[in-house]
Amino acid sequence: MSAPIDATTTPAWDELASLRDGFSPDLRGWFADDPGRVERLSFDLADLHVDLSKNLVTDEVLAALVRLAEQTGVADHYAAMLAGEHINTTEDRAVLHTALRRPAGASPALVVDGQDVDHDVHAVLDAMDAFADRVRSGEWKGVTGKRVRTVVNIGIGGSDLGPVMIYEALKPYADAGVEARFVSNIDPTDIAQKTADLDPETTLFIVASKTFTTLETLTNARLARDWLWSRLAENGAIGDDEASRTDAVAHHFVAVSTALDKVAAFGIDTDNAFGFWDWVGGRYSVDSAIGLSLVITLGPRAFRDLLAGFHSVDDHVRTAPLSHNVPVLMGLLNVWYTNFLGAQSHAVLPYAQQLHRFAAYLQQLTMESNGKSVRWDGSPVTTDTGEVFWGEPGTNGQHAFYQLIHQGTRLIPADFIAFVNPAYPLDDGSRDVHGLFLANFLAQTKALAFGKTAAEVEAEGTTGALVAARTFAGNRPTTSIFAPALTPAVLGQLVALYEHITFTQGVVWGINSFDQWGVELGKQLALQIAPAIEGDADALAAQDASTRALLDYYAAHREG
Ligand code: F6P
Repeated sequence: MSAPIDATTTPAWDELASLRDGFSPDLRGWFADDPGRVERLSFDLADLHVDLSKNLVTDEVLAALVRLAEQTGVADHYAAMLAGEHINTTEDRAVLHTALRRPAGASPALVVDGQDVDHDVHAVLDAMDAFADRVRSGEWKGVTGKRVRTVVNIGIGGSDLGPVMIYEALKPYADAGVEARFVSNIDPTDIAQKTADLDPETTLFIVASKTFTTLETLTNARLARDWLWSRLAENGAIGDDEASRTDAVAHHFVAVSTALDKVAAFGIDTDNAFGFWDWVGGRYSVDSAIGLSLVITLGPRAFRDLLAGFHSVDDHVRTAPLSHNVPVLMGLLNVWYTNFLGAQSHAVLPYAQQLHRFAAYLQQLTMESNGKSVRWDGSPVTTDTGEVFWGEPGTNGQHAFYQLIHQGTRLIPADFIAFVNPAYPLDDGSRDVHGLFLANFLAQTKALAFGKTAAEVEAEGTTGALVAARTFAGNRPTTSIFAPALTPAVLGQLVALYEHITFTQGVVWGINSFDQWGVELGKQLALQIAPAIEGDADALAAQDASTRALLDYYAAHREG
């Protein structure tokens, strides 16, 4: 990898800095004076209609941002990633999540570090389909001969957030009478509640962990195994002997991992394990075998459609010029807001209840990727990186935090995501409820962009101090992403869009978006503190004063 180009030393950065000085956004004026703005700034990317026109940019700013992408080597880095170069420098790995969704037989074949990537990806996909078909048809049976009704995915981070987000989004596609649940937190409440009403005879656990070393996942997997054994034994379904227990695990546990040796050590037959590779980052893994719970519940067809959606956006990124490359443009807009206009967070507001876990998913994707202070050569970053991503579905958010977006003092760029056709077309007797929902999406983006002037408030008869309180400044930037319906393909497109937005920002900032060293220290310390929780005096004495005091509080209040 070549040394990162310091974006702040490029001519485009200087250009943007001078455009920022005295920058006075005027969406009302820009729309009034420029009838071509919407058309020029709207893009159709596969099934996604993306309207960037309500962003705080002029053509000049956008052109300078595109030059920034050129001068920081965004196109070269895309090429390097897609070709399998080891752009994850700190882990010396290729970054090939895009290979997970290449169609079978793609030409030329992708061979990286001696591995025929296409062949291996499709061999696993075919194995997942075959296994899913057995579960879905009832051919795969539990230890007492009953078919599976619930799959419980045990994983955390990228081994949880993607599957749960997509399952929630595409639940209307679940067509085989198998539901999914997701256990992630090491808080025992999670597994206790998720298994409370389950029948062990019809439950299949998927232990999903890239490394198969993650404390939370292995702890939950052990709890799940104990639950299975004890509940089956209580029902008289199995005996208390080793052979019965092994047999129960063989019928009720499968695994997904890059570390099949560790899967075997846990006691899961590797014939019932699905692999992937170190070049798939955890937060980029939902389209690998980590998506097994989705293939089972939604069906192989839906999962392949999802992958095709991802791939169509990969193709766009690879072939579109930077000036018309939607993920690149959206990444550059984020750079503009973060580095030049002072934004610190970014809201993602789906007008689709099915996307209620989308913001949580994006938090890992964007913040674990770009929350970095050093560049890929180890030198400090030269500018702010990584916004805080957050959000909730509309209209719930409207009645909670939109006030601050509309009238607060902070700049919060927001992405609105909506679908023309609902999964559940309901009518309340007077009107189409989804139409009313969409009216809210349109109203919010309009209000944020154009606001309401004091004169307009006064014209409605308001006087005095209330005028200021009821005035909306406008010029609050939004991107609208509209699609015909929330199908598997559309969801794949949406996720790939954000993956590539994240990558674009990472390249401009010169950071490696594919490692996550920042999560390590807390993991190490938790293991050091655990003995102190259990009363080990030496471990307690080794803690700082605040941690010691909190441990004392714990000891004083612990029941049982
Ligand atoms: O939080 C750190 C992390 O490594 C994530 O990047 C990853 O998605 C998660 O832990 C789970 O890791 P694994 O799949 O190896 O259990």
